Amino acid sequence: MMRPAWFASVALCLLAACTLREVRQPPARRIFGRLPDGRPVEEFTLTNPHGIEVRAITYGGIITVIRTPDRSGNLADIVFGFDSLQGYLEHSPYFGAIVGRFANRIAQGQFTLDGVTYHLARNNGPNSLHGGLRGFDKVLWTAEPLHSDSGAGVAFHYRSPDGEEGYPGNVDVRVTYTLATRDELVVDYTATTDKPTPINLSQHTYWNLHGDGKGDILDHVLTLDASAYTPVDSTLIPTGEIAAVAGTPFDFRLPTAVGARIERANQQLRFGKGYDHNWVLDRPAGGLVRAARLVDSTSGRTLEINTTEPGIQFYSGNFLDGTITGKRGGVYGHRAALCLETQHFPDSPNHPNFPSTILGPGDTYHTRTVFAFGVLP
Ligand code: GLA
Repeated sequence: MMRPAWFASVALCLLAACTLREVRQPPARRIFGRLPDGRPVEEFTLTNPHGIEVRAITYGGIITVIRTPDRSGNLADIVFGFDSLQGYLEHSPYFGAIVGRFANRIAQGQFTLDGVTYHLARNNGPNSLHGGLRGFDKVLWTAEPLHSDSGAGVAFHYRSPDGEEGYPGNVDVRVTYTLATRDELVVDYTATTDKPTPINLSQHTYWNLHGDGKGDILDHVLTLDASAYTPVDSTLIPTGEIAAVAGTPFDFRLPTAVGARIERANQQLRFGKGYDHNWVLDRPAGGLVRAARLVDSTSGRTLEINTTEPGIQFYSGNFLDGTITGKRGGVYGHRAALCLETQHFPDSPNHPNFPSTILGPGDTYHTRTVFAFGVLP
């Protein structure tokens, strides 16, 4: 008489054990390539029970592949990158990389902290971009697999020595990618320092939800949960103003196609050659809030981004011009992909009215950004 119940509980336990085993399945690990000095670059592959796949390498902490299903269940790769290490070493515009120590720009490559002026490489016109000549996107990180109740992941670690790229302090950075069973990629950033220093870490993935680099992103429908943005000068340095988006092509509070207003006669769009600006997120609460939602009605794929950060850089791939050939021989044309970089505001060390980016000894920097993958009903 007890049999059916007994069978049911055994079956349930087996199912639970299988699910756990699936969740806890370690990421696959292989050598992706070798740096010119011979050091190996490893690649980690994370998969979840719905077939979503995320690959990341120890060079730059670069996310090389994200495969998600379209509305018919067909998997395709929705991020830009290269098939081999060579492409990343030679000419990558930060495809998939962790950017730091300071994501985005610092005006004239300099800032003053506690009375000392620090000088950084000017690698973007007169300004410093994404941490300088050899930022976190171009260094070799160490990595280890990670297991949590929510899914499997990989933890990257890099120790940036005092003075690296002109920045003060020895900084220990840890970035983890966890692919959750509920179809989310969770990115956690932590950092500590032994001297006060600016820190602003972000992820520079280029998205094209059509998959496999097809078409462009002008038909992607974007929502940004931001009532304001930080206008820039002609070198893309914020003027310091926090401007309302209402009545401008920068108002994405309601879902709007990326291409709907991108060619409008507008000084800010001219400076950015399209969208290349920081939006000031509405923060009804602390912690994780929604920053962006991206929808491709052709494939049915959706991407939602939640973050603890105060800002997001929306870059509409304006500098892509067909000169880069990426994965599977794909030619990456103008605005063929876009970036949504959660971050503190650009050039914060030179703008006392922006949220502070200075990390002090004894403090721990921690931010989280969650990328949720879905399909339209
Ligand atoms: C960032 C910048 C852009 C551009 C890209 C890389 O997103 O804001 O202006 O430099 O990186 O091409």
